[in-house]
Amino acid sequence: MLRRLPGTLSRPLAAPLRASARAPVVGGVRHASGTTHPGRWIGSSLLIGTVALVGAVYYYDSRSVAHEHVVMPVIRALADPEQGHKLAVKVLSAPSWARPKDMGEDGPALKAELMGMPLDNPVGIAAGFDKDAQCIDGLFDLGFAYVEVGSVCPQPQSGNPLPRFFRLEEDDAAINRYGFNSQGHGQALSQLRKRLAAFAAEHPALFPNGPLAPPTGLPRSLRPGHILAVNLGKNKTSPADSDDDYLRGVRTLGPYADVVVINISSPNTPGLRALQSREPLERLLRGVVAERDAIAVNGLPKVAVKVTCDLSEEELADVASAVRTTGVDGVIVSNTTIRRDELGLQSENAGETGGLSGRPLFPYALAALKTLRPLLPPNVPIIGAGGVWDGADALAMARAGASMVQVYTAFGYRGVGTPRLLKDEIARTLAPGASWEKQVGADYGGAAGMKWDAARVAAEGAKLRAEARELGNVLTEIREKMDSQRLAAEADEALAHLAAMNAATLSADGTGLPEDAVRELVHSAVIETPAGVEVVEAAPASSPTPDAVVAETAIAIIPADKKVAPTVVEIEKVEAVEKVQPSKPKNTFADQVHSGDRRLV
Ligand SMILES: Cc1cc2nc3c(=O)[nH]c(=O)nc-3n(C[C@H](O)[C@H](O)[C@H](O)COP(=O)(O)O)c2cc1C
Repeated sequence: MLRRLPGTLSRPLAAPLRASARAPVVGGVRHASGTTHPGRWIGSSLLIGTVALVGAVYYYDSRSVAHEHVVMPVIRALADPEQGHKLAVKVLSAPSWARPKDMGEDGPALKAELMGMPLDNPVGIAAGFDKDAQCIDGLFDLGFAYVEVGSVCPQPQSGNPLPRFFRLEEDDAAINRYGFNSQGHGQALSQLRKRLAAFAAEHPALFPNGPLAPPTGLPRSLRPGHILAVNLGKNKTSPADSDDDYLRGVRTLGPYADVVVINISSPNTPGLRALQSREPLERLLRGVVAERDAIAVNGLPKVAVKVTCDLSEEELADVASAVRTTGVDGVIVSNTTIRRDELGLQSENAGETGGLSGRPLFPYALAALKTLRPLLPPNVPIIGAGGVWDGADALAMARAGASMVQVYTAFGYRGVGTPRLLKDEIARTLAPGASWEKQVGADYGGAAGMKWDAARVAAEGAKLRAEARELGNVLTEIREKMDSQRLAAEADEALAHLAAMNAATLSADGTGLPEDAVRELVHSAVIETPAGVEVVEAAPASSPTPDAVVAETAIAIIPADKKVAPTVVEIEKVEAVEKVQPSKPKNTFADQVHSGDRRLV
């Protein structure tokens, strides 16, 4: 299919055309005599030129059927999935003139909106394709209005051993266990800065605060109607319960992104998915939002969290609750799935370990979206991902409340024309006068109708309150226990202190008690009770002398009006210890302190 050559192609096409014009000189058709026949020469020049022109048109125009039906099958036949992935990234990070592009127009019916930011169309590329931010403009040029780079981890890491990416062709699916292969924050930062600096050099007026500050009047994608997201992951060696990798990501890469995505749903990093449960998620998102607030300029970047459709309804409700309470701006559902048996897969690679993506994921991603939508306020958008293959899938996601969709696996199978194909399919499916925006939330009567499921949110609130009460009781118990332990410790300390101070006085005062008993008796404290001031003995039951045995539970009552300094025990009263019965003989001293019967003076 030959397409009209747009003006922008004049430069890219000039090179192949020039090359083809030279070709006859190098390899021209010559007569046996050695002379070149001018007619044949012109004929072959024209043929080669035409082939080159047609080839170039097919190459540059991402809509060419050749991409989906020739180039992609050839790549699949010749390269393993990871090689094919690398090749695609290389092609899309080539200089602008050498890259295929979307030659179509995004009409007004395709306009979308995300977190208050306008989008030329509702189709984005999901995380995991451009892991190290190498081909952002190549992807925008293909017609994606939203590009998500990453997942990026703080430290470079190579990921899992090869092979780790598998095609499931019979199922239009893939399984990957890349395990966050990432060149690290530093490398991604340098790519983002390079891109910004190159743009600033061409448009200095947009950068009054210098070439590395966010531009004025433009999103950080540097293209109106486009969004650049940075997806943050976590190093395999980082502690499972640490949020630090994400917080560092927000600080380091957040200033260059319209959206930072917190990816806690990849199945290939041990422990990562556990971060989706409510308490760790709330803690993480609260920290991320605070970090974002600290670096925000003009309300950017926004924060989104990416979850998997493998979560139960309860778990999705927990995610919604964490999103609501922490002020996160949006949710992406879904990442890959670890489901297998229920998917009815045909491919021989179905048994590979890892996250499954592509068509079989779609019903599960859609179901998760439908569960989540009524649990979030209408102003918290959801990005639908997971098995979106064509315009009909995208519109089904929109009707269930997705503000936009992302693709990855379809891009791997359908090729560089995928965004254009999807957009054309969406536009064709829309009734005349209809628009993407009007489809968003159509299942609820439109975006304005995407209200809370009041009963569900109320029930969830009641459950939360009950849990909070229970937690409160546990905390009170713990505190009480700690208080009594602390009091007991204080009492023991006071006893030891008094013992040390009184030892000399008692020995020198000649009480008539045997030395050992005196030594035991001095282990005392001065206590104030409602009955008066008491000197409490804490000598052990195993004391060696009869007097000391008496002293074991002895309490010498001193009238309340008699001032007794805490450090002095009156010796004559000590003699009376034999006659005095302890008020609670079985209770230990610590028990009496705990019960409030006694307090230390
Ligand atoms: C090879 C591959 C690598 C991926 N890497 C990431 C990643 O690094 N971070 C992430 O959040 N999602 C990653 N994903 C998940 C995709 O972003 C997407 O959520 C998922 O594939 C579902 O969409 P799809 O069915 O259109 O592919 C990856 C997917 C694939 C196929």
